[in-house]
Amino acid sequence: MTEVPKARKPVRGRFITFEGGEGSGKSTQIQMLAERLNAAKLRTITTREPGGSAGAEIVRHLLLSGMGKMFGPETESLLFAAARDDHVAQVIVPALDQGTWVLCDRFTDSTRVYQGELGKVDPKLIRAMERVTIGDLKPDLTIILDVPVAIGMERAMKRRGAALPDRFEGESGDFHEKLREAYRRIAENDPQRCALVDANADPKTVAERVWKALRDHLFSVAATRETAKA
Ligand code: TMP
Repeated sequence: MTEVPKARKPVRGRFITFEGGEGSGKSTQIQMLAERLNAAKLRTITTREPGGSAGAEIVRHLLLSGMGKMFGPETESLLFAAARDDHVAQVIVPALDQGTWVLCDRFTDSTRVYQGELGKVDPKLIRAMERVTIGDLKPDLTIILDVPVAIGMERAMKRRGAALPDRFEGESGDFHEKLREAYRRIAENDPQRCALVDANADPKTVAERVWKALRDHLFSVAATRETAKA
């Protein structure tokens, strides 16, 4: 009897999120990492939040123009969640299911920090929204780019040119200091998922640090799996 080859389960892609304050260099680093992964023949896409899908980009415009602010932080959170729900269903999950690596500029930690820690939205509401929008979809790795507030603000100002600051860039220096502290706490409390990367250097140096964090993380995950199998 000829043996029928077993259908191979498709390998799920890796889900890597980037977080950090304004001007921490997320977009540059995501681009650089995507190029490196694609060069290593790992199919990779880049995306962002809020946004990343047609529906979510409409909500992005509403949120970053500051129109959402008048409804208060709870409603703003619901708008971020609505955008995430569409993005996850339309872009992230289908890509991961096809084995594609997904690099996402901001994800649930942004809501935890901006709306939760700074906007004082009840953590129960934040958790409930996560259950509805992402379910079990946890990032395989979250890179948190850490940069002193003054440097981040200067970079953001240069990038903006003559344009006005958006809804969150326009907040006070104190807001951005608290933001940085909140991100550092997330990294400290969840070292399995998060890597805090010093982003106060030129893009190439930071890219090497990001690459090292990725390799260290993937090796430690692979080693844990091997130990569990033994
Ligand atoms: P950015 O694309 O320039 O990072 O701008 C997105 C802004 O939206 C940034 O200031 C952080 C904010 N934001 C939240 O407040 N909550 C969220 O859940 C997300 C994804 C972003």
